[in-house]
Amino acid sequence: MPASALAADTPRGLVVARGNACMGCHAVDRKLVGPSFQQIASRYKGDPLATTKLVKKVKDGGSGVWGAIPMPSHPSMSDADVRSVVEWVLAGAPSSK
Ligand code: HEC
Repeated sequence: MPASALAADTPRGLVVARGNACMGCHAVDRKLVGPSFQQIASRYKGDPLATTKLVKKVKDGGSGVWGAIPMPSHPSMSDADVRSVVEWVLAGAPSSK
């Protein structure tokens, strides 16, 4: 579904997160299977390499940073989509622009 089909002030990263089942394992403000997006934002606050690291992690999957449960890989997502969702997470996962 194109972003334009949704409310104009919905951040693109949130549209991508909803469209790729991220919200099945992550919530903005509480831990589900994976850490909350706000926890992730505060962990990487001030880390200039965070975007690069997390883009790779979302694409390739992996475990061991937050616990033993692995995140699955997302090989079919486009680089642009992965980057927008990661940038949105690192911005604290706001619900509107
Ligand atoms: C099947 C459950 C599951 C799905 C689906 C999932 N995640 Fe995760 N995610 C996890 C788990 C578990 C972790 C913790 C991994 C670890 O400890 O290294 C995690 C970690 C993360 C992290 C932090 C990685 C780190 O190394 O600190 C980010 C960012 C993230 N997920 C984003 C996403 C995005 C974006 C999507 C959708 C494209 C997504 N996740 C889909 C379970 C999931």
